[in-house]
Amino acid sequence: MRHFIISMAVALMCAAAYAQSPEIPGDGHAMLRVDVKDNYLLLPVQEDVDNANVTVIASGDSRFAFNIRLAKEKVDYFVPLDLRHFGEEKLLLDITFHGKDLARETVGKYVCWWGIRQDDEFDTTNRERFRPAYHHTPIYGWMNDPNGMFFKDGLYHLCYQWNPYGSQWENMTWGHSVSRDLIHWESMPAVIEPDALGAVFSGSAVVDHRNTAGYGAGSVVAVYTSAGRNQTQSMAYSQDGGKTFTKFPGNPVITGEVVDFRDPKVFWNPDIERWNLILAAGQEMLIYSSADLKEWKFESSFGEGHGAHTSVWECPDLMKLNVRGTDRQKWLLICNCGGGPAGGSATQYFIGDFDGHKFTTDQKEALWMDYGKDHYATVTFDNCPEGRKIAIAWMSNWNYAGAVPTKQFRSADSLPRDLDIFEYDGKYYCGVTPSKELIALRGQRTRQPSETCEIVVDLKGNSQMELSNPKGEKVVMEYDSKAGTFSMDRTMSGDTSFSNDFPTKTVAPVHGQLKQLRIFIDRCSIEVFDSEGRMAMTNLLFPSEPYETLRSKGCKATIYQIQI
Ligand code: FRU
Repeated sequence: MRHFIISMAVALMCAAAYAQSPEIPGDGHAMLRVDVKDNYLLLPVQEDVDNANVTVIASGDSRFAFNIRLAKEKVDYFVPLDLRHFGEEKLLLDITFHGKDLARETVGKYVCWWGIRQDDEFDTTNRERFRPAYHHTPIYGWMNDPNGMFFKDGLYHLCYQWNPYGSQWENMTWGHSVSRDLIHWESMPAVIEPDALGAVFSGSAVVDHRNTAGYGAGSVVAVYTSAGRNQTQSMAYSQDGGKTFTKFPGNPVITGEVVDFRDPKVFWNPDIERWNLILAAGQEMLIYSSADLKEWKFESSFGEGHGAHTSVWECPDLMKLNVRGTDRQKWLLICNCGGGPAGGSATQYFIGDFDGHKFTTDQKEALWMDYGKDHYATVTFDNCPEGRKIAIAWMSNWNYAGAVPTKQFRSADSLPRDLDIFEYDGKYYCGVTPSKELIALRGQRTRQPSETCEIVVDLKGNSQMELSNPKGEKVVMEYDSKAGTFSMDRTMSGDTSFSNDFPTKTVAPVHGQLKQLRIFIDRCSIEVFDSEGRMAMTNLLFPSEPYETLRSKGCKATIYQIQI
């Protein structure tokens, strides 16, 4: 009892020391004065309340605005506001709350006032058992699409749609990570933040070897969507290898007339000695060209009468690829959209020709790059060595991305994959092969699967593989050689309760006989690839314990530890 009283007293003293008293001039409106002492203001978040709008004011000037689910009744986690950013000694946070119970007296009792505090550190130690070990994740906060990916001076740069103030979609900012091997990622400070033109939606980055934009040979130029009153395209450049970006003073560089008008992907096209840009507009893709990355000329549109049109088209990419085993080349147009084969978000593609002005194809039907349910917003890196086209996808689905059972962070990216084109039965398809960097992760052979492993499966015909844990949770994978399909059933895989749309069996066409599969397991995901790159399937799962039993029929499975 004595111990209890002492700990209560200590807790109260600490709480008192941390308490921040806001002024509450009216219902739903609070003002919090901050005397800047430490690096961060730590803000408590409650995920199930409405967003509050916060404006950071210095000497009467509005310096930054963001939305945050400030805690009203309980604290789920903290996020940091970097106070160094403003270079001021005194700041005022002007806060407008939304939702119910906005009376002045109630606002004064919100728990956030007891939690807000300053600190020189923000603890990013992982607290999530579902955080993947060898996939890219943000150290905290929400993430969706990969953005602005490029290779330069030995480093792969991966920017991403990020919310620095919570683990739900909001405040879109370009987060930034770098890697030497596409597997081990280091988190860097955010590179592009929202401004008066809007939030920073998806886009791309290129290395300007020829100094076409005038920022120096080898400078990096990013083009992204400013999601303000309307969606427009803006540009920013980096002269320090992609560490920091400066926004172009002439932004926006492209405006349009369509509501959904976004996700510019830029590439140098040697065939016309100019840059091309492709962006999504409603259910079409628009193509532009430019000599200097600033002035863009509209060239043509693509989409009507082709492929799936069940939702807006998003996140395009366009590239020339080799057709396997030939000296021919074809163009691949990537179109991410809803209405995928497993329901919701997926990556559609078209194979055709492109002359720098217009993309043409005979392909009318929808083809999909990955037949799982968690593979979206796929785009490729610019400037890869050896002419490689390396793609990364956001490993989630808009149907339930905000509900998956993690809090400190939400969403991971897929493993990197190399793209090419193969022919089967007189038709072209996109080939997807796990990037060669993954081989370096293969450790010792082991008898049992674990939460991080690679399973190589040799097959001769119909086969079944079942992964299970002692709780009776399981994932069943089947190859039906006659039907020419591979499937994965995750209906019994563990926690599926967070969305009715999550339990599902995904099915892929295999285009020929499957001979070998590579299966990558990483805590909350399974990615299955045909070793010959003709089928890919990416699915999330949330087992209450790792799957440690593998039962296989009709095939031979070899399990390797993953060496991180
Ligand atoms: C795709 C997408 C993009 C947009 C971004 C916003 O997932 O909707 O079209 O730029 O996410 O975060």
